[in-house]
Amino acid sequence: MLRPWEISPGIRKRRTGLPETNPTPKGKKLRHPAPHAAGIFGDSADMREIRPLKEAGIINGVTTNPTLLKRAGADSRKAAGRIMREIAEFMAPDPVFLETTETERSKMIAEAAQLAAFGDNVVIKVPVGGYRSLQEGLSGFTGIEIIHELWNRDIKTLATLVFNSSQAFWAANAGATYICPFLGRLADHMYKHDHPERTPGNSLYFMVDHKVPAGGTDRVENTPYVAVDGERKDAGVRLINEIVTIYNNYGIETEILAASLRNAVQVMECLVAGADIITVPANILMGVADHSLSDAGMEAFIADTKVFDK
Ligand code: E4P
Repeated sequence: MLRPWEISPGIRKRRTGLPETNPTPKGKKLRHPAPHAAGIFGDSADMREIRPLKEAGIINGVTTNPTLLKRAGADSRKAAGRIMREIAEFMAPDPVFLETTETERSKMIAEAAQLAAFGDNVVIKVPVGGYRSLQEGLSGFTGIEIIHELWNRDIKTLATLVFNSSQAFWAANAGATYICPFLGRLADHMYKHDHPERTPGNSLYFMVDHKVPAGGTDRVENTPYVAVDGERKDAGVRLINEIVTIYNNYGIETEILAASLRNAVQVMECLVAGADIITVPANILMGVADHSLSDAGMEAFIADTKVFDK
């Protein structure tokens, strides 16, 4: 868990400079007390989960990915398209994040344009990295180029599969509207690789994975702050803290959408670190308003009201 003195001091200023999450409708007397609260999105492609969360006012956006679509029953591109369109229409005007699945530049742009046509609320998820190791000949800049091209075309993007602040910086620089650090996956990975070694010749960065992708050049993994300091299971939330600091240093308005959450404690940690948005699986959202002492307190209060009904 981040200690209060580790928290980036510019978070409040940053949040008030971004669009309101809970605006007070015109003519309403009671102003919403949390206009700049973090956005909470549903991390799901299943309408059976999305509908009740939206109707209860718990979520104001939805993130999907190919794995979630497969889990929701999509067994073809056509079926996946149908599900994505249904979610986009249901959630409008709230944002819905739909991911590109192609890896070749022109196909990615065409797919992004096709998905964006589902509605004005659609944001295109573009994997920021991973291309070089996927296929020989693919450039390490593929994701960055696509994000920049979509920015040129006024299409909103989210850089996904972000695991270090270098990716977060370059995606923002290319014009990404949002970036998506995968804190759960990073924390799981760090926990598994408990003995990071210094990269020769680069004392600022630590490697936790020695596989050098096709293309030859070395790559950074994470800074010591994320990879080594504190508890290894805190790596994800430390990454968010590091990105918030960098974005605040340069007044970067790209929104930080924390993803890949494993439990409700991580939701609280993201709030401490200053994530702009947190996308949460439905099963975790179910528990965010509970505490064992609330259970005991409710039981006692309800038992005591019995006396009123005598
Ligand atoms: C959301 O946008 C991400 O794709 C998702 O949170 C990834 O979660 P996972 O690491 O549990 O697959």
